[in-house]
Amino acid sequence: MYLLETHNPQMKKIYELAKKVAPSSSTVLILGESGTGKEVLAKYIHFCSKRKGPFVPINCAAIPEELLEAELFGYEKGAFTGAIKSKPGKFELANEGTIFLDEIGDLSPKLQAKLLRVIQEKQVERLGSERAIKIEVRILAATNKDLEKEVKERRFREDLFFRLNVIPIKLPPLRERKEDIPLLAKFFLKRICEREGIEEKTFTPEALEKLINYPWPGNIRELENLIERLVILSENNIIGVEDLSLPSLDSKFPVRESLVKEKDILNKYALPDISEEGIELNKILREIEIYYLKRALEIARGTKTKAAKLLGLNRTTFIEKLKKYNLV
Ligand SMILES: Nc1ncnc2c1ncn2[C@@H]1O[C@H](COP(=O)(O)OP(=O)(O)OP(=O)(O)O)[C@@H](O)[C@H]1O
Ligand SMILES: [Mg+2]
Repeated sequence: MYLLETHNPQMKKIYELAKKVAPSSSTVLILGESGTGKEVLAKYIHFCSKRKGPFVPINCAAIPEELLEAELFGYEKGAFTGAIKSKPGKFELANEGTIFLDEIGDLSPKLQAKLLRVIQEKQVERLGSERAIKIEVRILAATNKDLEKEVKERRFREDLFFRLNVIPIKLPPLRERKEDIPLLAKFFLKRICEREGIEEKTFTPEALEKLINYPWPGNIRELENLIERLVILSENNIIGVEDLSLPSLDSKFPVRESLVKEKDILNKYALPDISEEGIELNKILREIEIYYLKRALEIARGTKTKAAKLLGLNRTTFIEKLKKYNLV
């Protein structure tokens, strides 16, 4: 469920363009900072396209090269150790639908070459097979990297770039579409309160003003996460400025170069920066640890050895942690 209403002229144009190109089979390259809604836009294009097949997303950065190759193109039984039965790749699964190649800027040179061939020939071969399978797939790709720079610096093939860059759409960062912040904030507030079965909360005008003027380095995702935290943590039904505890980006203290880089970790895990009032590090770490312990147990259906393995812990350490939080 998304909010596709906008007061921002640039976003209006983007939605128009998306609707216009949706029914065609042209490749669309979606660019924009992390958390600006690239995947949401990709789903919207697929939805407007009325294509028969499914929307099949795949993140090209999250998976090691060999696995990604097998995921994309599929494999036959015995193609490599562990291939105990044949499996279709994402391209085959997306037949008559859309494949969404997320983080395309991170694709290895080998897979760039392979992808180019698939696009040109409109067919795939599963690993371990010579049989070509015809596919009719709409390609949508996204990246938060500057692909032209990647091409110049020879990390991304120019021919593949041209194939993908047929219709480029650049999503603006949230700080450049401030007029949508109240809309989005209220939308998330309503959605999260409904989901949690809590009475609907509202913002004071001052709180909204503060949200509008904050630069949102993590874009819509950061806004969504902040509002989720506010709903869960604030006791009042009216959320005021004092509840917001936004990271002070305009700190009076100069930020060390190395810290700027380390700050990526906050975005990566959608964690709050230190606010004016400070944070409670132990509480945050405890909440994170408890979440992962419970989640691992859930995935492992209560098998402690397996749950410990999922977290990269040995069984004894895992059980010690469970005891520490009274989870056994
Ligand atoms: N129009 C929208 N309405 C509601 N939620 C949105 C909208 N756009 C983005 N979001 C929310 O913001 C978050 C980020 O969106 P999305 O995953 O599409 O961004 P992204 O650009 O792909 O980010 P990344 O580069 O980090 O993968 C998601 O949780 C999504 O639900
Ligand atoms: Mg994404």
